[in-house]
Amino acid sequence: MKLQEVIVQHGSPEYDLVVGLRYNILRKPLGMQFTTEQLAAESKNHHLALFHGETPVACLMLLPVTENRSMQMKQVAVDDTLQGQGIGARLIAFAERFARAHGAHTMFCHARQNAVPFYLRQGYVIDKEPFEEIGIPHRYMEKKI
Ligand SMILES: CC(C)(COP(=O)(O)OP(=O)(O)OC[C@H]1O[C@@H](n2cnc3c(N)ncnc32)[C@H](O)[C@@H]1OP(=O)(O)O)[C@@H](O)C(=O)NCCC(=O)NCCS
Repeated sequence: MKLQEVIVQHGSPEYDLVVGLRYNILRKPLGMQFTTEQLAAESKNHHLALFHGETPVACLMLLPVTENRSMQMKQVAVDDTLQGQGIGARLIAFAERFARAHGAHTMFCHARQNAVPFYLRQGYVIDKEPFEEIGIPHRYMEKKI
């Protein structure tokens, strides 16, 4: 599938489409919504997506690089009709390239327990004890990039 790597500007029409994808994949199944305040607070983050034509099929968010050269990846989502086809792996590769270009040496995330095998396949390792976020079990995972 021909996919385009896009850095999405916060507040743009493409951003609204990406928020729609994140809602469908990450929030709707939990019966949760994004609030206006939550979305406004994302303006300093980097929003990366893979588009098929005009449609985002995968996306994630990166927080600004920290003083110790780490970058946090959040809200990784692939369209549910397209999962298991290598698109998630392509998205992570895009994010790691972007993070290195912004001076990051480490990428980390709070992985939902169900996604841990996916991150292990991408070279991430588990650290610390399990914890809960938005009511579901998570693991801290990181990778030197
Ligand atoms: C997790 C997610 C991002 C993975 O994206 P994807 O496009 O389905 O994954 P890919 O097809 O690129 O998989 C890459 C590799 O990880 C493996 N993998 C992916 N999900 C897996 C799982 N749940 N269990 C075991 N292996 C998995 C694949 O088999 C593949 O292995 P390979 O390299 O040997 O071929 C996607 O399934 C998703 O959006 N899930 C729902 C939302 C979610 O949980 N997001 C993560 C929040 S932390």
